Amino acid sequence: MAVTAPILIEPMGLADIPGVLDVERLSFNAPWPAFAFHQELTANRMARYLVARVGTRVIGFGGIWLMVDDAHITTFGVHPDWRRRGIGRRLLLELAELAIELGSARMTLEVRFGNAAAQALYAGFGFVEAGTRPHYYSDDGEDALIMTTPNLDDPAMQQRLAAERAWARAEADR
Ligand SMILES: CC(C)(COP(=O)(O)OP(=O)(O)OC[C@H]1O[C@@H](n2cnc3c(N)ncnc32)[C@H](O)[C@@H]1OP(=O)(O)O)[C@@H](O)C(=O)NCCC(=O)NCCS
Repeated sequence: MAVTAPILIEPMGLADIPGVLDVERLSFNAPWPAFAFHQELTANRMARYLVARVGTRVIGFGGIWLMVDDAHITTFGVHPDWRRRGIGRRLLLELAELAIELGSARMTLEVRFGNAAAQALYAGFGFVEAGTRPHYYSDDGEDALIMTTPNLDDPAMQQRLAAERAWARAEADR
């Protein structure tokens, strides 16, 4: 697929919801309904959501909840046609930048035990395994792996973030 416009990472707005739902349906067994995103964007002061877009088309999204000093990733997906092009990595970096800006000490998430792709993405960013939640997913009872970053101001994590920023700048200029 030829890329004709730059891929931008921007705050999610209400007008993005239909595009986000398209990616959701192609990414998850139990996608969130439209009202959940509407609620998150309009009524949850602790939530922040981003989209990746090409022109007006949403091709990826992710969100965090600010829970005390944790930025907890709530949902995260990239359209199947756009995977393995670094979009997940760019979204994750922008979510980390938001977390830092809002004073979070670290990032956490749950991921399906069988979701090797997402686990590889998170591990590449510095997330490590921090426990399990048995039968966490209500649709099929699969266990969740809990993953967390080291403290975001830890020197090794700072170094990793600097490397990710340099990589993302190079990607954006391509
Ligand atoms: C997980 C997901 C978001 C990754 O998005 P993506 O844009 O394809 O990821 P990136 O291209 O940024 O990948 C960055 C790195 O993550 C790892 N990775 C991503 N997808 C992978 C896969 N299918 N297999 C193995 N490693 C993978 C690789 O290390 C990759 O770097 P590389 O391409 O240079 O080898 C995407 O596969 C997706 O939407 N999956 C369905 C929804 C989902 O599982 N969401 C996460 C819920 S916790």
